[in-house]
Amino acid sequence: MTSNRPNANPTDAREDATPWSETGKHVGAVLVAGAGISGMQAALDLADGGYYVYLLDREPAIGGLMSKLDKTFPTNDCAMCVMSPKLVDCGRHLNIELITYADVAGIEGEPGNYRVKILRKAKSVDETKCTGCEDCVTQCPSRYRVRPQPEEVFYGPELAPEERDFIERLLREETDVEGNLLWLLQEISHYYRYLPQHALEYLADRTGLPLAKIISVVTFYSAFSLERKGEHTISICRGTACHVKRSRALLKRIEEVLGIGDGQTTADWKFTLETVRCLGCCALAPAIRIGEETFGRVRVGDLEGILGKF
Ligand code: FES
Repeated sequence: MTSNRPNANPTDAREDATPWSETGKHVGAVLVAGAGISGMQAALDLADGGYYVYLLDREPAIGGLMSKLDKTFPTNDCAMCVMSPKLVDCGRHLNIELITYADVAGIEGEPGNYRVKILRKAKSVDETKCTGCEDCVTQCPSRYRVRPQPEEVFYGPELAPEERDFIERLLREETDVEGNLLWLLQEISHYYRYLPQHALEYLADRTGLPLAKIISVVTFYSAFSLERKGEHTISICRGTACHVKRSRALLKRIEEVLGIGDGQTTADWKFTLETVRCLGCCALAPAIRIGEETFGRVRVGDLEGILGKF
């Protein structure tokens, strides 16, 4: 959104904002919503053109999706090499003001004279002192329980003796906990069919690994779940090959039969339904998997017979 008014100010936060242009004239302010690669380039072009730019992003940092990529298609260029100069330019440009961890809450006005209400989420840090070390992320007491002092080691209130024995046995089997964290999590996930918080807290307490680190590994892999699942997980493939072979009809039929939607579990904890992007057997499309068993070229009429096996 652009405005030709001098000092047009979308946030109300900077009534004294002084737009600047190469010609020395005030030409107004612009709000660019989304600070991915396109938003950053747009902000830089506008700022170079003389507009005062508010570059807004809902994430705590600018960069968007591209900052998570390794290479870019089709040239195979290093993503960070492409975007790093733009990150720096956006941070330093005198005509760009970054508004991160915020969202547009409302817009009013007309072309050339907009007022935008911005909802800023609490960062709970003093931005003038922040060095970007991320220590506050790993130690956030509201997101991750504050680690106890050694003398008051926490044993999850729901950790039954047999659960504790199970985890202790794993820890006796594997002394290099950090190097084999994935294996430990797989075993615990297999035991519970998900990763309950109290088991992760116990693991953190016993091994000294930060709970935040364990959770970051858990949330990185889609094979792990922090929510309890049913005895059998039904995975309906919605990848391209299965999609063209009408896997949507399979999903709809299973939803009707079990009375649950994608990501839900039946009341008796028997089945959890989920959709996946590819089961790795596209030649058998449409495919579904229940537990460890994969079924290919499934027709809607086959479904009740397949479910009956479980
Ligand atoms: S797209 Fe369904 S198995 Fe690959």
